Amino acid sequence: MDHNTIYCGDAIQLLNSWPIGGVDLVFADPPFNIGYVYDKYKDDVPNGEYVKWSREWMAACRRVLKRDGSFYIAIGDDFAADIRILGRQLGLHLRNWIIWHYTFGQNARAKFSRAHTHIFYFTKDARRFTFNDRQLRFPSARHTEYQDLRANPLGRLPNDVWDEFPRVCGTFKERAGFHGCQMPEALLMRIVQASSNPGDVVLDPFVGSGTTAVAAKRLGRRYVGIDISQTYAEHTKQRLATIHDESGAQPRDGEWPALHVDMLMQLYRETKVTLANLLPNEVALGVIAASLSERTGAGYEVADVKAQFERLAQSNGLPKLPNDTEFVARNHVTTEGKRYRRQVKRVQKRRTDGETAAGNILRLG
Ligand SMILES: C[S@@+](CC[C@H](N)C(=O)[O-])C[C@H]1O[C@@H](n2cnc3c(N)ncnc32)[C@H](O)[C@@H]1O
Repeated sequence: MDHNTIYCGDAIQLLNSWPIGGVDLVFADPPFNIGYVYDKYKDDVPNGEYVKWSREWMAACRRVLKRDGSFYIAIGDDFAADIRILGRQLGLHLRNWIIWHYTFGQNARAKFSRAHTHIFYFTKDARRFTFNDRQLRFPSARHTEYQDLRANPLGRLPNDVWDEFPRVCGTFKERAGFHGCQMPEALLMRIVQASSNPGDVVLDPFVGSGTTAVAAKRLGRRYVGIDISQTYAEHTKQRLATIHDESGAQPRDGEWPALHVDMLMQLYRETKVTLANLLPNEVALGVIAASLSERTGAGYEVADVKAQFERLAQSNGLPKLPNDTEFVARNHVTTEGKRYRRQVKRVQKRRTDGETAAGNILRLG
């Protein structure tokens, strides 16, 4: 197994040919067996066959994991229960059953729309594992809302429902464009920071668009990726060629490294308080500065964080927080409502054509 390498091949075969215990962290996002169209894999096999295959690749990952290694698996609803049981059968220790709740889920017509993916966080050993808690913290409601003096000055840890990572939509700048299931880089950053250290080996046996390897490389870890598709593997290599190890980067003459800006934006998403409310709150800004310093290894102060937030706001560079949309009287009290009224008519017509009211209202949104 060579480090900083993307392999094209079958994950089980490759993993079983590599030495035992050389990997610190595995992140696996396998095909979910839901009929998704991939370049080289048929995502629609009998359920029993899929579970048997899952057991084989999970065992192969466990084999290459170090004794104190961590193993994350993303999976959909249909096989989440099977993966949990397979984890137990393979002697893995479940630390969290994380729900990644995302916006822009697909709208359903006759059931509740699905807006989550499961992420299992297992460790090989029940007690020995890496968990860099100080790099994960952000201001709690005690800092942002109640101004409670008992608040932990280091901030709080994320809980097991992750709602601060929007899915990578077609319009997103980070979209690599060659793979339909690209995971958000920020989500992988959290996992890589939590469960590995600089220099550690991070493996993704279903690397797809290469997100895990990108996060690992930016954070100064060694990556190993596998994909059965030659096309995805080649594209991933090209994507990685544009990525640098930013783990040692430091701000210079007030210029922040891109990684630090990304981390500040992630802290903003995690804090979930708009800038107008955040800027006067020195205590919350202090937690953000402390956590950013832990995440980056650079020494940031409240004044630095404030200045960078202001710069980002001026250039419209701050991420949008959920539901924080300026109200423009367009659809409700309409002055330019012709388009909207046409849309309503179309929906009403569909409704009379037999579609369910719920599905149509969702489409309107
Ligand atoms: C859900 S995607 C992974 C997406 C990835 N997490 C990302 O952020 O882009 C699953 C990937 O597994 C690959 N795959 C399917 N069977 C495989 C196998 N036996 N060995 C290696 N890769 C495989 C597919 O080609 C596909 O790219």
